[in-house]
Amino acid sequence: MKKQLLWIALGSFGMLAAGGGAQAAGDPEKGARKNSMCEGCHGIPGYRTAFPKVYTVPKLGGQHPTYILSALQGYKSGARKHPSMNGVAATLSQQDMEDLAAFYAAQK
Ligand code: HEC
Repeated sequence: MKKQLLWIALGSFGMLAAGGGAQAAGDPEKGARKNSMCEGCHGIPGYRTAFPKVYTVPKLGGQHPTYILSALQGYKSGARKHPSMNGVAATLSQQDMEDLAAFYAAQK
């Protein structure tokens, strides 16, 4: 169910991007410097956090940048709900999110 919602979000993002002409692409090098607060959870393969409940943290490396960006925007706006990610995304600017998306998309 969550995946379907995300695809709808991705679709509308795609339309916005097409309507708005060229979008400022993120800078992966800047993203690498903003990554310090993410890697504690996302950098460890198979990592599971214990708070507020046990859950598996998704791997971000190699994901499509549009997917990462729209996921972060969803957490920031509250359209996607997860306590850790809502807290993290609230601190990110649009530029931060684009840079982080570019950084993670470039990971293999
Ligand atoms: C406290 C641990 C934690 C931190 C710190 C954290 N994340 Fe997450 N992140 C998660 C968890 C858990 C999920 C899965 C949440 C869900 O199921 O919706 C997630 C989901 C995501 C997703 C969606 C992935 C997908 O496949 O749907 C993205 C993108 C993301 N995080 C990016 C980031 C970025 C960028 C940072 C740093 C700015 C960050 N996260 C910091 C735990 C964390």
